[in-house]
Amino acid sequence: MSMKLTIRRPDDWHLHLRDGAMLRAVLPETTRHFARAIIMPNLVPPVVTGADAAAYQGRILAAIPQGIDFTPLMTLYLTENTDPDDVAQAAKAGLITAVKLYPAGATTNSASGVSDFNKVRDVFERMSEIGLPLCVHGEVTDPEIDIFDREKVFIDRVLDPIRKAHPNLKIVMEHITTEDGVDYVKSADKNLAATITTHHLIINRNHILVGGIKPHYYCLPVAKREDHRLALVAAATSGDARFFLGTDSAPHVDQLKETACGCAGCFSATNTMSCLAEVFEAEGALEHLEAFTSLNGPDFYGLPANEERITLTKGAPVAYPTKINSDEGPVSLFDPGFPLHWVVQ
Ligand code: NCD
Ligand code: ZN
Repeated sequence: MSMKLTIRRPDDWHLHLRDGAMLRAVLPETTRHFARAIIMPNLVPPVVTGADAAAYQGRILAAIPQGIDFTPLMTLYLTENTDPDDVAQAAKAGLITAVKLYPAGATTNSASGVSDFNKVRDVFERMSEIGLPLCVHGEVTDPEIDIFDREKVFIDRVLDPIRKAHPNLKIVMEHITTEDGVDYVKSADKNLAATITTHHLIINRNHILVGGIKPHYYCLPVAKREDHRLALVAAATSGDARFFLGTDSAPHVDQLKETACGCAGCFSATNTMSCLAEVFEAEGALEHLEAFTSLNGPDFYGLPANEERITLTKGAPVAYPTKINSDEGPVSLFDPGFPLHWVVQ
């Protein structure tokens, strides 16, 4: 029997589009289904000022396939030198939708991130005043802390103090990977939400490490134990307005993943909606897919939900390409490891 699901057009609240040839290759994979996306600013060099964001926005707009309606929601990369006035001006001009906090060294291209959180207090204060959300990569970088504990320790050591010092700051904990993250978000009555990626709903750390190392499942924050994955699935499929989709689709050419020191990132833009429909159906929660992909995000950001609809249908397994090509080289698509039956019409 064929099944059909019509939902509002989705948005992606955490996306890496890169630049140049990679941007041109991956952008159509997102714009095919998504109406808007929060664009990560971790280019080399990063998108630090309003002027940088305007220039990057221009390059993205120029790369959108003809006839497709897509809005890139720009972000600034917070550094210890970020000027609160520049942030406020860019927000007022409608140029940026959020500011991104990377602890220095936490992930790909995060060397210019923040080490001393006291140095960015003025920026947080200004953002609180104007209602501009802070997107947080929630992992400590202390070499003493085990990589599997870095999210939990970040909550205690960094995030909770920031929230206490700036209770009016709207914060998105991005790509949460732990039950601790889920519980922390649920403990807040306002101004805190979390994005969850497609791949963290599907893989646990065994997928990366059992039966040979699988570089295409390596991303940051790294996938955790199965209990944590189950907590993420429960949160995402619950309909709770504090959880929404941020794919963290993060393309790297295969050459940079399949190597002795491979880059972190899963590229999932192409098949995300099919993967999510499968996950939500397995939980008996298809009626909450729209909240996760299309309603909760705009609600938190204070934006209207998209008016357009998409329809997913269920049928025989869909064949997705294993890779997409870019002028920089092939990029492997996230492989959920099970057949995908849902397709966006
Ligand atoms: C991201 C990237 O490649 O830019 N990688 C990842 O594993 N998610 C950076 C990030 O979001 O941490
Ligand atoms: Zn990311």
